[in-house]
Amino acid sequence: MKPELGVCYYPEHWSEEMWAEDAARMVETGLSWVRIGEFAWSRMEPSPGDLQFEWLDRAIEVLGAAGLKVVLGTPTATPPRWMLDKHPDMLAVDAQEQPRKFGSRRHYCFSHMGYIAECERIARIMGERYRRNPHIAAWQIDNEYGCHETTVSYSQAALQAFRRWLADQYGSIDALNAAWGNVFWSMEYDSFDQIDLPNLTVTEPNPAHVLAFRRFSSDQVAVFNKAQVDVLRPLTDAPLLHNYMGRILDFDHFKVGKDLDIATWDSYPIGFLSDRLEADEAHKTAFLQQGDPDMQAFHHDLYRAVGRGRWWVMEQQPGPVNWAPYNPAPLPGMVRLWSLEAVAHGAEVVSYFRWRQAPFGQEQMHAGLLTPNNAAAPALAEARQTADDLAELGAVTQAQADVAILFDYASDWAWTTQPQGAGFNYFRLVFSAYRALRRAGLSVDFLSASETPKSGYKLILAPGLATLGDMVEQRPDQLTLFGPRSGAITHDFQIPKTRPGLSGLDCEVELVETLPPNVCREVVGGGAAQHWIDRLSGSAPDLLTYTDGTSALKGENGLWYLSGCSDETLWDRVISMAAHEVGLTLHPMPEGLRRRETEQHVFLINYNSSRVSWNGHEIGACEALILKKHAPEEG
Ligand code: GAL
Repeated sequence: MKPELGVCYYPEHWSEEMWAEDAARMVETGLSWVRIGEFAWSRMEPSPGDLQFEWLDRAIEVLGAAGLKVVLGTPTATPPRWMLDKHPDMLAVDAQEQPRKFGSRRHYCFSHMGYIAECERIARIMGERYRRNPHIAAWQIDNEYGCHETTVSYSQAALQAFRRWLADQYGSIDALNAAWGNVFWSMEYDSFDQIDLPNLTVTEPNPAHVLAFRRFSSDQVAVFNKAQVDVLRPLTDAPLLHNYMGRILDFDHFKVGKDLDIATWDSYPIGFLSDRLEADEAHKTAFLQQGDPDMQAFHHDLYRAVGRGRWWVMEQQPGPVNWAPYNPAPLPGMVRLWSLEAVAHGAEVVSYFRWRQAPFGQEQMHAGLLTPNNAAAPALAEARQTADDLAELGAVTQAQADVAILFDYASDWAWTTQPQGAGFNYFRLVFSAYRALRRAGLSVDFLSASETPKSGYKLILAPGLATLGDMVEQRPDQLTLFGPRSGAITHDFQIPKTRPGLSGLDCEVELVETLPPNVCREVVGGGAAQHWIDRLSGSAPDLLTYTDGTSALKGENGLWYLSGCSDETLWDRVISMAAHEVGLTLHPMPEGLRRRETEQHVFLINYNSSRVSWNGHEIGACEALILKKHAPEEG
């Protein structure tokens, strides 16, 4: 597969005379794809039934005639103002029961049947109009589900749909009462119609109720997406995709992804570093203008799994964004480096957001490849350079990694429902494991925890999985590492009698402690656990112990259980012990330098603002060194 570049473009923001020149300049920059349409409903249908697609026909023609392939977005993330007059109860509602008002975007409730019907209608109109258009090479459905905390809605539509969903899941109210343990605090119900949404309760609601509501809310996203898939699928052979956002765990991306052909995501490395990553100030300062060295790769690998191997970056940060608390510019070279890194992880397309900075609206301070006055912004030249790099690179094929992480969105819902310790967070735990693997120079695959892992992995990490099925088969030559907090609840948020999946390991959790961030539990020989400690008992051998003599890691029969959230030193020790056990070669990496192997290449990605040396290679600041696989990695 030969990776390509693209860009997000809003023809409706610019006068029509500019389109042809824009298209020519995109091609000159080495771009092959252009995404349009995803917010343009008010121009496609200015009032109900008044369809105005001629401008879009012309835009597609101009872009296509220049040689660009078009991704056409359905505009359902931005219902126009008249939609609200037509469906006054379509707005999402927050936990305080305030409507999330018109005036930005994503204001709809996923459960509103009237709005879903409107989305099907506009998707059908577009599908029928453009099904034979040779320039439409892919369809994007909606835009960034869940962004701006929009997965969960406490609307009347959600309430009615939740009751139906519960009746469907549990069959009888007695079954629900038993499953949720509603005898506790006399919370038993007589009928599904009595069940409310779990907000505005006096103190915390039943965690089983909350988790059911989170599962329901996630399912509503999949149902909403599928409604448009079902309309478009019979009309077109072009791939259907969605652009997910970073660190959004409120819905099950694997479930949505099953109905689509390609997963894409929106990568804003510098925005994420300041906006959605726990890290100390020194780290945030060192990588202020580059982004965290593992955050993008984590999502690349995760979305490769969501897309069952097919994934893109739909929106690549090109310069300062407008939405983080602070918005520094990328260091020179970073836009190119981010793009090459995505390719190393298997991106078919890297598409920049956006072509030209808008002089109006909420994102007027958000950089594009061009300034509002049409001058080249710094990223334009880097995009051009990346296009040249890709031409030289040729095909890039992904190889199955030796190591996999089992990932489970529902575990995040469970642990945010009942954190038990303020420092415990599912994403943070999984990310700490991922970082440790990357510090060891390993390539990593993600797998959905609800599917039985493929064979061929030497090491599987399954930290923090709330419920354990029997998904992990014990295989010779494979080690699976659980914990902390693995298998700690049942599907209905009760403490399980046993932890399935761990049956080959004689290890029980006899007590759980959580710790404030300034306290940790030291491990003999170095490293410590923080935030969460499972106190382990059982006959399985202790592989590591805390300085108080209790077990930090137990293991036998290819199954290990780690007791706490490990700091970096402890993770590094555990990974190196595991590697030794299964015969995995590690490639220890210096700070900020990362390594990714494909079938043909080894990519060395330097996020540092200074040159680094590794194994005899010199890698420049913010640069990638790409080694052909057959050449030795030692320089
Ligand atoms: C994304 C979104 C885009 C734009 C961009 C700004 O989250 O999909 O429409 O808002 O962020 O960084």
